[in-house]
Amino acid sequence: MIEKVKSMILNLCENKEWCWKEHIEAVVKYSKQLAKEVSANEEICEISAWLHDIKKLKGEHEGHHISGSEEAGEILSDLGYPEDKIKKVKECILTHSSDENYPPQSIEAKVLACADLLSHFDIFMEFAYYAYALNKDSIEEGKERLRKKYKKAMKKIILPEAKKIAQPKYEAIMLILGEEN
Ligand SMILES: [Fe+2]
Ligand SMILES: [Fe+2]
Repeated sequence: MIEKVKSMILNLCENKEWCWKEHIEAVVKYSKQLAKEVSANEEICEISAWLHDIKKLKGEHEGHHISGSEEAGEILSDLGYPEDKIKKVKECILTHSSDENYPPQSIEAKVLACADLLSHFDIFMEFAYYAYALNKDSIEEGKERLRKKYKKAMKKIILPEAKKIAQPKYEAIMLILGEEN
């Protein structure tokens, strides 16, 4: 099941302008690591991680957690995945993107939400590329964008196990960016 979902998602990642493959793979890595640390169901966490941004991979950004949860459910159902597990995966995807209307409740959902945020700390240069090359920010605008992004991400990490992973990277990033003028 995991292999099928993985190859479907990696196919969708091909020829994209942004680094989707790196993002999704990092979310999978942290989901598995955190699942072990907090004794969450690793299979649910990994499948949710592969599928969590499926709508964004298809170019749909608005409400991608809501529509993505539905689409993931349909895909898994077609693949014959058990209904009780599908329900858990759908909850993880629905609550992964910091929408206050859909806060993560289960431990697996918290793992996915934290893994998604943690992945941002591994792709600092990709976000800098977005700011300077794609969005044409000035040096200061880019720094400010990145500072805001990482401060916000750090605040949203709810699991202490995830905060611990993020902390040294957060400090390094802030050291590079420097303080606000
Ligand atoms: Fe997302
Ligand atoms: Fe994501």
